[in-house]
Amino acid sequence: MTEQPAILGGRQTVRRAATTRARIGWPVVTDEEQNAVADVLARGPYTSNDAGRGAVSALESEWAGYVGTRYCAAVANGTAALELSLAALDIEPGSEVLVPALTFVGTAVPVAQRGLVPVFVDVDPVDYTIDPVAAEAAITSRTRAIIAVHLHGLPCDMTALRALAERHGLYLVEDAAQAQGALYGGRRVGSMGDVNATSLNVVKNLPTCGEGGLITTDDELLYERAVLYRQFGEDLRAGTERDYLSRVMAGNEKLSAVQAAFTSCQLRRLDTDSERRDKVVRGFLDRLAELPGVVVPRVPEGRTHAWHILRLRFDPIAAGRPDVSPGVFREVLRQALKAEGVPVQPYQVVPLPGQPLFASYGYRIEDFPVSLGVIEETLTLQRWHLNPESEPVLHLCADAFEKVWSHLDRVVDHGRGLPYRPPWHRVTELEEDV
Ligand SMILES: Cc1ncc(COP(=O)(O)O)c(C=O)c1O
Repeated sequence: MTEQPAILGGRQTVRRAATTRARIGWPVVTDEEQNAVADVLARGPYTSNDAGRGAVSALESEWAGYVGTRYCAAVANGTAALELSLAALDIEPGSEVLVPALTFVGTAVPVAQRGLVPVFVDVDPVDYTIDPVAAEAAITSRTRAIIAVHLHGLPCDMTALRALAERHGLYLVEDAAQAQGALYGGRRVGSMGDVNATSLNVVKNLPTCGEGGLITTDDELLYERAVLYRQFGEDLRAGTERDYLSRVMAGNEKLSAVQAAFTSCQLRRLDTDSERRDKVVRGFLDRLAELPGVVVPRVPEGRTHAWHILRLRFDPIAAGRPDVSPGVFREVLRQALKAEGVPVQPYQVVPLPGQPLFASYGYRIEDFPVSLGVIEETLTLQRWHLNPESEPVLHLCADAFEKVWSHLDRVVDHGRGLPYRPPWHRVTELEEDV
């Protein structure tokens, strides 16, 4: 008989003492980052208008070189990167843009901010990325672009999406915020759309020490427009004298040099960190995949996974508990795993069209059954595994899963009677409050 699960009074498997900063802290800050930031502070320039001589320009050419595009423009964050990408495309206001129903709100808000209409598309039930067949069905005469979100680090089916875009004369925009370094058919994400955005938020695989974003494109006109929109519509190209004329309605969405210098150091380690993470994460997922009813993410042929977020699906039938619903099963496991010290958590509690901010758009979450199922039947692990030294902690997490599974019937019987509400119940309650 193995040890009791923590939820039934046993000892916690993943103790706080095991989760040291050296193992699970992210981002990893070395002397390299310290020196690079100190260097910017000592020497400047601090701003992104560095006439090609500062840390921002350096990061722009390093990222363009890394992903393989002709141009890169650094901006304030990933949301701004998407907004300026859409601005660069100069799409007529009121046009429709296809957005997956399961992603971070930062994918869809820039669409609305540009006066465009997000048209949500359900995701693939296995890979959790936009479903190309559902995308085609959502196209109307007003559709102008598709945003391909490489959710959790797995590149979308870019072949199908590119073919779709070409068939219907649409722009393809990559949202690579969660997938820096991932490959699709040998190409880096962030190089396959007409214009592409990524985030350097501190939690991302390619982080800065705060907020940042990068836009990439091979198209000179799109690049120049993105740069124009980055600072008040002014022409600030290197070598031109500032004329203080704002040519388009635009705000101020630049990156600071300190943040660029930090990210340049991280970029130099991106490939080695990704390779080490891949090994550690695969070892962890292989152990979980042995447990009946745990569905781990797959990596389709020809793609690599950046493992930004690990999403696990729980199937009560395969686990031998057909008597409990998937939602209840997942909730029972959430509680049991948290009691063991495993930081399982939801990622999104409602499909994006159900977010309160879209209340006036008239979307119905029932129209996105796959996203609803994913949200109700899965849990995610975030952050800890980003650190390539996390292997011992992930081993403990796998131990915790195995312990829960070896007492699965008792754990399920213990939790199944608790009141259950689906993850999107808070939205429904908010609506009732209004
Ligand atoms: C898929 C996706 N798109 C867009 C964003 C927005 O990026 P940022 O937080 O840098 O604005 C994020 C960041 O969380 C994201 O995960």
